[in-house]
Amino acid sequence: MHEKIHDVLIIGSGAAGLSLALRLPRTLRIALIAKRSIEESNTLYAQGGISAVVDAEDSTSSHIADTLNAGAGLCDEETVRMVVEHGPSSIRWLQQTGVEFTREEANLHLTREGGHSHRRVVHAADATGRALEVTLVDQARARDNIDIFQHHIAIDLINRGNPDGGKTCLGAYLLDINSDRVRTFRARFTALATGGSSKVYLYTSNPDISTGDGVAMAWRAGCRVANMEFMQFHPTCLYHSKAKSFLISEALRGEGARLLLPDGEPFMPRFDPRADLAPRDIVARAIDHEMKRLGADCLYLDISHKPADFIKEHFPTIHQRCLEFGINITREPIPIVPAAHYTCGGVVTGHNARTDIANLYAIGETAYTGLHGANRMASNSLLECLVFGERATADILARLDATPPPADVAPWDESRVGNPDERVVVSHNWDELRRFMWDYVGIVRSTKRLARAKRRCNLLRHEIREYYGNFRVNNDLLELRNLVEVADMIITSAQRRKESRGLHYMLDFPQRDDRNQRRLTILFPDNYSPR
Ligand code: FAD
Ligand code: SIN
Repeated sequence: MHEKIHDVLIIGSGAAGLSLALRLPRTLRIALIAKRSIEESNTLYAQGGISAVVDAEDSTSSHIADTLNAGAGLCDEETVRMVVEHGPSSIRWLQQTGVEFTREEANLHLTREGGHSHRRVVHAADATGRALEVTLVDQARARDNIDIFQHHIAIDLINRGNPDGGKTCLGAYLLDINSDRVRTFRARFTALATGGSSKVYLYTSNPDISTGDGVAMAWRAGCRVANMEFMQFHPTCLYHSKAKSFLISEALRGEGARLLLPDGEPFMPRFDPRADLAPRDIVARAIDHEMKRLGADCLYLDISHKPADFIKEHFPTIHQRCLEFGINITREPIPIVPAAHYTCGGVVTGHNARTDIANLYAIGETAYTGLHGANRMASNSLLECLVFGERATADILARLDATPPPADVAPWDESRVGNPDERVVVSHNWDELRRFMWDYVGIVRSTKRLARAKRRCNLLRHEIREYYGNFRVNNDLLELRNLVEVADMIITSAQRRKESRGLHYMLDFPQRDDRNQRRLTILFPDNYSPR
């Protein structure tokens, strides 16, 4: 009764998971999993939009050049080309699926964000993610081949060893959070579409789901993980004691907003000729630098010089949300601070979204594809989710006939664990982890800070592993277990990169070192065996 069998198990219901689920044929039985409600995801909160070359004056080569430039020498050029070339068809697919974008007469309205040399961001006002998520979820609900499981958190993947030394994925164990039961999900193909890891930091633009579960599960199963040092901090999150994780879209700067010091001075021209529209790493570091220099709690973003009607039309969500906190953005600057936003690294995948384990795919923010290099350009992420959802679909279809139903697997065994005794271990370690990651592994790092973080992380990992081995699982324990693994990967990767590049800035190695360090940071788990 607690076992489910499907053709495809998709863990995650954001842009990546939904596009895979909807592109697969209706003849396949699909399980679509979400650990909270089906809509709750990073995708739901995406604001700015989706980058794609849809304007006649723009070009594929320009989108490629901008992406490579933001990626600071570490993008995989072939991946960048492939993704950019699929941009226009991904937008058409979304429109055919029912997503409504903001229009300007007959054309799509395009906005601009940091690093883009053209207006090329397709959007639905300032709530693009909501338009996409809600529409795709409606479509998934209407399909009778898709079984939706909400409030189910994946614990670990289930693998079988192959005679050639490699592994095959057979599904995953999932905790049904409402009934507190662990269920076995078996499938011919499994896809991790679990989003990012930004909750590893104390301050983040992300919702609570972003605990790096996919990266940690794939790692424990034996997959390589790449480039985890490149965590992106968004320059402008609302600074207000009651506002949790509210982003102020980069599109405001695209439409003319300027960053200001508390005395009203625009400071970005001092840091980069592109000023407020420089790539995110540069802007976030400049803000961090000025806040530290002035001892300021926040800086300001001002769009109030634009007509009020324009602001309300283009940024209705941000306007309304700020009003709820007593800030009228048509009249006054918005207090902002940087916050952890996006995980550029992840589970190593190829162009077909395959991982190191047969029949296991990783798509969306949880994957490392080579698109973002050392820094993701704004609005390239949703595009990556859509393109790799399509790539995984094509690969699954090509391998369908040769892939038999999954073999039997052992049921979840909790005969040797008891009920948790002191839950404070979980809440305490959760707070401690996110605090030291913010203080020591944040926007600006140093060898000393990383060593401090590593010592603390080792201690927490040990404690959490012990706790996990003794007690029955629950949602918070599972997320903390994943967060500490991911934190360790971020610190280890950061320690290996002895230079400053893209999102990774080291006080004691302030220069980029192309001669020795122009390489990926690939971590190999102890149980890694090549396919
Ligand atoms: P998500 O959308 O995060 O979905 C993850 C899914 O996995 C969820 O359904 C979750 O429940 C599920 N899940 C996770 N762990 C488990 C588990 N253990 N078991 C079961 N289910 C699990 N990018 C852009 O390109 N343009 C933008 O304008 C933009 N704006 C953004 C604004 C904000 C505020 C934020 C936070 C991000 C923004 N991004 C933007 C980034 C972009 O939204 C994300 O990178 C993208 O949505 C990730 O999609 P995804 O499908 O990979 O994961
Ligand atoms: C934003 O709207 O500023 C977020 C865009 C992104 O993260 O790509």
